[in-house]
Amino acid sequence: MLRGDHLHAKMGSGLLCLSVLALLYTSVSTQFVPPYTEDCRTGMYPPKGPTFKGAVTWYTVDLDLPPSKRWTEVITDKKADLVTMIAAIKDLADAFVPSGKLINLVDKDLPLILNTLPYPFNEEIVGIAKDSGVPLGEIVLFNIFYEVFTVCTSMVAEGENGNLYHGRNLDFGLFMGWDTKNKSWTITEKLKPLVVNVDFRRNNHTVFKSTNFAGYVGMLTGIRPHTFTLTMNERFSLDGGYIGILEWILGKRDGMWMSFLTRSVLENATSYEDAKNQLAQTELLAPAYFILGGNQTGQGCVITRSRLLSLDVWELDLKLGRWYVLETNYDHWKEPLFLDDRRTPAMKCMNETMQANISMKTMYDVLSTKPVLNKLTTYTTLMEVSNGRLESYIRDCPDPCMPW
Ligand SMILES: *[C@@H]1O[C@H](CO)[C@@H](O)[C@H](O)[C@H]1NC(C)=O
Ligand SMILES: *[C@@H]1O[C@H](CO)[C@@H](O)[C@H](O)[C@H]1NC(C)=O
Ligand SMILES: *[C@@H]1O[C@H](CO)[C@@H](O)[C@H](O)[C@H]1NC(C)=O
Ligand SMILES: *[C@@H]1O[C@H](CO)[C@@H](O)[C@H](O)[C@H]1NC(C)=O
Ligand SMILES: *[C@@H]1O[C@H](CO)[C@@H](O)[C@H](O)[C@H]1NC(C)=O
Ligand SMILES: *[C@@H]1O[C@H](CO)[C@@H](O)[C@H](O)[C@H]1NC(C)=O
Repeated sequence: MLRGDHLHAKMGSGLLCLSVLALLYTSVSTQFVPPYTEDCRTGMYPPKGPTFKGAVTWYTVDLDLPPSKRWTEVITDKKADLVTMIAAIKDLADAFVPSGKLINLVDKDLPLILNTLPYPFNEEIVGIAKDSGVPLGEIVLFNIFYEVFTVCTSMVAEGENGNLYHGRNLDFGLFMGWDTKNKSWTITEKLKPLVVNVDFRRNNHTVFKSTNFAGYVGMLTGIRPHTFTLTMNERFSLDGGYIGILEWILGKRDGMWMSFLTRSVLENATSYEDAKNQLAQTELLAPAYFILGGNQTGQGCVITRSRLLSLDVWELDLKLGRWYVLETNYDHWKEPLFLDDRRTPAMKCMNETMQANISMKTMYDVLSTKPVLNKLTTYTTLMEVSNGRLESYIRDCPDPCMPW
């Protein structure tokens, strides 16, 4: 990774992250080496070998408990990993603003932000701070962090029998501390032990299931069995999130945090249409892509959001031969940034697989093909709405492998 230390020092604001991408574009374009694109993988499932780092543990969160008590079991298990992760975030923040001033700010001022966050998120965060012994402001920081820095690939596909499959790679940690010795992203590696699967229950019945990071109360990936599946991807835009997040801190609080909306929808929306309306119409703090699958033929879409409204809903359309929709981090009607084209290789592999052969197994193959699989890939999740299945796997991308 060129300029690793420079980038490392510049992390700390998503807006800088955006300008760093532009900088890379101009400074690297003449010497850019083609990405490590491989032939579409086959036979990767069940997961094994060097790209499979481990299974993900299941936990239950009881929604009938008071919010501050819901995460105790998860946090008790994952406390040490959470503390390590937050120490790494603090190191990055110190590199960005030396002298520890930023962290003083976090410890002093972010707890005040907590009171502005909606129920039940505010109380769950208090419980997590208590259970982990980590200062409240740092848990708030940890929860805001993902709103800003997620890069991913998600897709919904319909098989010829009408069965819907939803898969995603969660890529996280771009520009956050490149470890030159291990050729890996520091934050990405520290996140892997925090990945958990959670079964959210009410009256001792599953309401929804998700793949999540311990300590984080929003959702990025989840299924409401027999009803819908949902993932969220970051959308970079000049009308960007950082403005909305700044406005929130300064007191203008009209929008909703993206991953809080995703969680609310998984918890309380009762159908595909209900979920779609909420995701399309709720005002947000930042732009986002929501990838939503339903439980019937033709129900699958990518919702491209600005902060205020839905710009586009791109749906499955079998009559047009569109048996899958796939989203990375670029509007589907535009070309992806050539330095970060995970879309073309993923589509190529989906096309090669063909509708007749789509399954959890073949979707895992697509998500295991470099550069769809890359150094940022933290986990792969596969979901099948008709039987309520959610499976996830921690990933590794051995060299040679694209850094993103
Ligand atoms: C690099 O990888 C080795 C072996 O996996 C590990 O023990 C070490 O802690 C890693 N170094 C850093 C800085 O993460
Ligand atoms: C909750 O459900 C599990 C299995 O789904 C069952 O073993 C357990 O007894 C139930 N608990 C209560 C309190 O009903
Ligand atoms: C879902 O709805 C219930 C009942 O109205 C409410 O108590 C709960 O806080 C909602 N969940 C979220 C995440 O908003
Ligand atoms: C699909 O979801 C709707 C709305 O929740 C539900 O009424 C219907 O029974 C579901 N269909 C199947 C096949 O599960
Ligand atoms: C995949 O197939 C679709 C639909 O036929 C086509 O529009 C697209 O160009 C193909 N993409 C690749 C990368 O093969
Ligand atoms: C697709 O499925 C058919 C029938 O099961 C099988 O013969 C064929 O080899 C499969 N193709 C691929 C690319 O997996």
